[in-house]
Amino acid sequence: MAKKNQTLGEFIIENQSDFQYSSGELSRLLNSIRLAAKVVNHEVNKAGLVDITGAAGDTNIQGEDQQKLDIYANDVFIQTMTDRNIVCGIASEEEDDFITINSQDELHQNKYVVLIDPLDGSSNIDVNVSVGTIFSIFRRITPVGTPVELKDFLQTGDKQVAAGYVVYGTSTMLVYTTGKGVNGFTLNPALGSWYLSHPNMQFPEDGQIYSINEGNYFDFPEGIKKYIKYCQSEEEDRPYTSRYIGSLVSDFHRNMIKGGIYMYPKSTKNPKGKLRLLYECSPMAFLAEQANGVASDGYNRIMEIMPTELHQRVPFICGSKNMVEKAEEFMQKFK
Ligand code: AHG
Ligand code: MN
Ligand code: MN
Repeated sequence: MAKKNQTLGEFIIENQSDFQYSSGELSRLLNSIRLAAKVVNHEVNKAGLVDITGAAGDTNIQGEDQQKLDIYANDVFIQTMTDRNIVCGIASEEEDDFITINSQDELHQNKYVVLIDPLDGSSNIDVNVSVGTIFSIFRRITPVGTPVELKDFLQTGDKQVAAGYVVYGTSTMLVYTTGKGVNGFTLNPALGSWYLSHPNMQFPEDGQIYSINEGNYFDFPEGIKKYIKYCQSEEEDRPYTSRYIGSLVSDFHRNMIKGGIYMYPKSTKNPKGKLRLLYECSPMAFLAEQANGVASDGYNRIMEIMPTELHQRVPFICGSKNMVEKAEEFMQKFK
């Protein structure tokens, strides 16, 4: 049971027994994610000093190459999980292929694979706007003791055992689910501890915010165009408010708290959509459903889409239940 002012560490331990296969391995994995998130947070906070310390690609005063923050975040998460020997494989938006973790002493004994978008909304870094990290955790399908295979990563979203995100915003938060609701923890930067600040997060059933890159309007499917016009029409409780940050994590986070819908449909430029099923949509869909929300590609539940490749893209409509269902209605009607 969620208690206020609890630290993330305490919460993970206390809720470990909720988990079907509680061996402590998932708890240790979540602990390494919370550690890596603090390291990345520290670096993201310094991003504004880049003019002083040198831009990504430059060489800094110590003669080290400065990394782009998305590569830095990728390295930190992978390194943390590798060093602690906590997963058997990692797939990242920043890597062409999955990484096999092969510990020397216990060969391929770990049970979990992690998929990660290490820095989401990275174009916002240069302008001091919130960015995030998204993670998704599955149990491997192949037997322990053997190297991981592609099929361990290509699983439908409903097989996830945990998923979450970190939002590096005005406050830094870690929000995650293990399938028993969604809880949000805020980082106290002075102490380096995460406190349970948002227990049992829920999307309001209805909302007043729609989030979409409307610059692509003329390129959108007819159903989306019509739904946007519906959001803008002056009827009942409309027009809705338009809010689009351009960081999925931040847009999702705001919509979950206030009620809203996020859409990234397909277009001529992105015929399959832009967002990645495994690193972005599937974990966000798990969180949404655990928070009483809905996630769809316009016609199908995101959680049931069988991935065929690691970097697969998919159209994404996600948020408050009644809003997503209304958007789906428009998609059906103007198919
Ligand atoms: P990433 O920075 O990991 O590549 O993700 C960016 C994604 C997502 O966070 C955001 O909502 C979307 O791309 C924005 O795309 P547009 O600039 O096309 O609107
Ligand atoms: Mn992203
Ligand atoms: Mn990214």
